[in-house]
Amino acid sequence: MNKKNDEETKPVMQKEIFEQPAVVKRLFERCINSDDTVMLNIPLNINNVVISASGSSYNCAAIAAPLFRELLCIPCEYEYSSEFILQKNYFVTPQTLFIFISQSGETSDTLQAIKKIKELGGKTLCITNSENSTLWNLSDYRILSDAGEEKSIASTKALCAQLFCLLLIILKIKFSTAGSIESEILALKRLPLYLERIIGDFDRFKIAAEMISKYRDIVILGNKTYYPVAKEGALKIKETSYLNVMAYPFGEFMHGHVAVLNEKAIVIAIIDEENAMSAKRNLEKIRRDYNPKIICISSVKDIDSGDFNIYIKTSKKIKAIFGSLIVLQLIACEIAKILKKNPDRPKGLTKVVRD
Ligand code: F6R
Repeated sequence: MNKKNDEETKPVMQKEIFEQPAVVKRLFERCINSDDTVMLNIPLNINNVVISASGSSYNCAAIAAPLFRELLCIPCEYEYSSEFILQKNYFVTPQTLFIFISQSGETSDTLQAIKKIKELGGKTLCITNSENSTLWNLSDYRILSDAGEEKSIASTKALCAQLFCLLLIILKIKFSTAGSIESEILALKRLPLYLERIIGDFDRFKIAAEMISKYRDIVILGNKTYYPVAKEGALKIKETSYLNVMAYPFGEFMHGHVAVLNEKAIVIAIIDEENAMSAKRNLEKIRRDYNPKIICISSVKDIDSGDFNIYIKTSKKIKAIFGSLIVLQLIACEIAKILKKNPDRPKGLTKVVRD
């Protein structure tokens, strides 16, 4: 196949994954001044954050929540919008910021969630890819995630942009409390180049996808912020290849869930500095007891616990989060291609979930 035909037959999902370095570069240039101040209109007197969203937007909230706790030392809860609207009590205070994330700005569960909080007089902020959407118009504060139109049903670049916006919120609040944000700003500045480098390794991810495509039970493991990264990877594979993929926190997996490996299964493990020791130990035990195929995606050098190891070199957590997401997105897209599914048109799914 010549290069032009190859370009034409590339799934839209893959093209949108490849756009991510440009998406984060554009957001950086739009939202960060030359003196490294964050240009966002958000409330700063905040001591508590609650996020409501669905699907990939929810996973984005779950990825960011530990960072609110770590970098700002404030509580951050997150909930599926469909569950949020069933809650009996909402704890609304003047210092609570309610964030609603939606690519489309039209997901009915998330719209119902914001309406509940508005009725109670809570402070609302949306992150959406759709200016003038219903969510946009309902919110007190608005951030445009600016990923460009997302055509693929499986969300990729929109989540990447949402996560970048959540990090900007964290950095803006941290700076307002006299915290230093220099190192995080530098990580965000270098992110586009880092993501380009990851995409440059696509051929290695194709090998991983080939291995995974032979299994019908797939387990993805990660800790803390990487557990929702694992969930997002699982969602991408489920949506586009209809395979049974489960994500678990590493340690919790060992409490019984590990028995699923008695059936023919493959394990994908996400490893970083913080969980390297315990992940290696758990993988050794898993190999001893069940001997499944193991693929590691690691930002730490010399991790060789897998039958196949993908190294996404960086010492910066912020970069490793985006890096591991992109690897899983590309693997998901590639599995769908191998299994002759159309990743752009998953059966029975629509881009916007309304009532
Ligand atoms: C996953 C996906 C869906 C959406 C969910 C929320 O790839 O696309 O799970 O993330 O339906 O949609 P938005 O973000 O438009 O509210």
